[in-house]
Parts: sequence; structure tokens; C-alpha cells
Amino acid sequence: MASEQPRSGYATGLPAAAAGTVTLGGDLVVNRLGYGAMRLPGPGVWGEPADPDNARAVLRRAVALGVTLIDTAGYYGPSVADRLIAEALHPYPPDLVIATKVGARRGDDRSWQSDARPESLRAAVEDDLRRLRLERLDLVHFRHMEGSTIPLAESVGALARLRDEGEIRHVGVSNVDAAQLVEARRIVPIASVQNLYNLSDRHAQDLLDICTRDGIVFMPYVPLAIGALGQGDGPPADLAGRYHVTPAQVALAWLLACSPMMVPIPGTSSLAHLEENIAAAALQLADEDMPVSRARATAQWLVLAHPASIGFPRAGIGCALVAARYVVRFVERTNATSSSYNMTVAY
Ligand SMILES: NC(=O)c1ccc[n+]([C@@H]2O[C@H](COP(=O)([O-])OP(=O)(O)OC[C@H]3O[C@@H](n4cnc5c(N)ncnc54)[C@H](OP(=O)(O)O)[C@@H]3O)[C@@H](O)[C@H]2O)c1
Repeated sequence: MASEQPRSGYATGLPAAAAGTVTLGGDLVVNRLGYGAMRLPGPGVWGEPADPDNARAVLRRAVALGVTLIDTAGYYGPSVADRLIAEALHPYPPDLVIATKVGARRGDDRSWQSDARPESLRAAVEDDLRRLRLERLDLVHFRHMEGSTIPLAESVGALARLRDEGEIRHVGVSNVDAAQLVEARRIVPIASVQNLYNLSDRHAQDLLDICTRDGIVFMPYVPLAIGALGQGDGPPADLAGRYHVTPAQVALAWLLACSPMMVPIPGTSSLAHLEENIAAAALQLADEDMPVSRARATAQWLVLAHPASIGFPRAGIGCALVAARYVVRFVERTNATSSSYNMTVAY
């Protein structure tokens, strides 16, 4: 993993490669459909899984299907997801990128707590290196937790120092708003943003737009709304019937079509769900089934390209207003579905 040899191309032709690739941090090429390891530990992301052999089989199958990005965190288990990854996959395939997160910890009562102190982040990175048996972590997200009393600049600054020292190749941020992303980017290049985003919750749309514009990878967490979007009665179910695929596959294909920087990381502890999810890499939804992104693309063209290229400021303002209304109408219409889900999101 710490090798400087070219690392892409090994998974070409495998199912996950059908989603295309994206370059992370300017030097790591990954297939655009990844895997999230949070569902591998026991219930509540706590302790050992009931069937550790199955957990390791899921990880090996993910790689065999062409997954080149696995998301994890030392606080999944705690330690359990990292350890399973190392047991199942070390020595790692040359093109595998393991993304981690620091900034949180688990209480003895299994609660999710903030721990954003620079010394804690350094210790978490060192623990990840040891557990994952790596000399350098390819991508470490600072996971911002609501209620943290540590200024963001201190935490991101700590990761920047670890990057300078060589323990980290790239820094990402998670659960931030647009202003926090701007602040983080003043401190260190940000290779990836990991925020909640899926077909039923698009509150992070502004962040996705920034990532798309600036070539930052966007990893939507809970891409299946913790399984809700995989149910037969969810919003993607109608489309699934028309495309002869499953609702989860529609939800993932929809994400992939939203932005070339999008890298969904669906989580599962099930081999069958893994196969199903990765097969979504090959699913292409028609334009008319992508109303929000099409409206947004049209709006961006009207607001940015048209007035700038032909120099009609007043027409530009008019276009901007029409486009904004168009986008808002679509977003409101499709977001109305989100209230039907009751998600308890972990980190
Ligand atoms: N940065 C953060 O704060 C943060 C927060 C949450 C998650 N994450 C990351 O994002 C990844 C994805 O999020 P997530 O795992 O919480 O949620 P998710 O991917 O939206 O959904 C996972 C849940 O959906 C079920 N599922 C998976 N595939 C399915 C399918 N095809 N049909 C029906 N149900 C299916 C899984 O159950 P089975 O196990 O039974 O398949 C699991 O309970 C995590 O694994 C983690 O790496 C990051």
C-alpha cells in the first residue's frame, strides 16, 4: 500500500469498474463504487460480528468485484472493522484505497462522542496504521461531530501535520458545512468530503456542487438511507420495476449519475446485498429519471455559461431566477419523500 508504483488499472473489467473511475487527491485512481465497512461489526456497530468468516468473505468479495475504495473508522466496533479488513485483505491489492475517519470515539455506553483534540487525532491515526498494518494511510477524514468544542482549524491542522510527516497521504473532511469546507481548504488540500446524501436526503447538495466544481471526491454516506431505499415501497421502487432492477440499485445508480466526483460507499454485511449493490455500477438511468440533477445542470448552464459567454447581464439575472425556481420546484417535489424514512444515523 505504501508503494509509489502506479496503483490503478488492476480492477479494470471487474463489475465495480462499470461505474468509471475518479482520481482522488490527484494521484489515487479508484472505481466510483466503493464499500463501507461500518456494517461488519456486531449490532449497533459494536463488538464482534456474529459470523466473522462471513464478514471477511464480504470484504474479499468486494475486492473481487472490483471495489478499490473501502471506508472504515477505528471507532467501528471499536477496532473491529479495521481488524477484519486487515485479516481479510492484507497484503492489500496495489490499487486498494482504505479511507478512514478520526474525530469520534465510542463511550462505554456505546454512545458516539466527539474527540477532536489534536493529540487524540494523532493517536487515532497511529492506531489505524497499526491495526490496518500500513505505513501510511491513503485518506483520513476529519469527522466533525456536532457539539465539538475544539475549533475545526485545530483538528484539521493536526491532520495537515500528520500529512506533512508522511503518516497520511490525503486529508478529507466529513459532516461539514460549506463554510467549514472553505476553512479546512485554507489549511490543507482536501481530497474528499464525506457527508450524508442520498435519494431521500439532499441537504448536502451545496457541498456536492462544490466538490463537482473543484474536483473533490464526494462520498455520500448512508447512500441507501440505511437500507430504507432498498425496500420495495421506497421512492426508487417504481423505477426499479421499469428497469427490472432492485430499488437499492436505482438509489445507487441515481447517486452515480449525480456527479462525476460521486463515490457511493454502500454498507452491508450480506454477500447477496454486496453483489446486488455492486451490480448497480452498470445501471444507467435515463435523463428523464434524473429530474433534480438535470434541472441543476440546466440551471448551472443558464446561470454560469450563458450570460458569461454572450455577455447579457440582465438576461443572465432573468435566467438565474427562472433556473432557481426550476431547481427549487424539483428539489422540493422530490425531497418530500424524505420524511417517510426514520433513519438513526451512526458515524
Ligand atoms: N462519515 C460518517 O459520519 C458516516 C456515517 C455513516 C456511515 N458512514 C459510512 O458510509 C457507509 C454507508 O452507510 P451505512 O452502511 O450506514 O448505510 P447504507 O449504506 O445506506 O445502508 C446500509 C444498510 O442497508 C442494508 N442494505 C445494504 N444493501 C442493501 C440492499 N441491496 N437492499 C436492502 N438493504 C441493503 C444493510 O443491511 P445488510 O447488512 O443486511 O445488507 C445495512 O443495514 C458506512 O458503511 C460507513 O462506511 C460514514
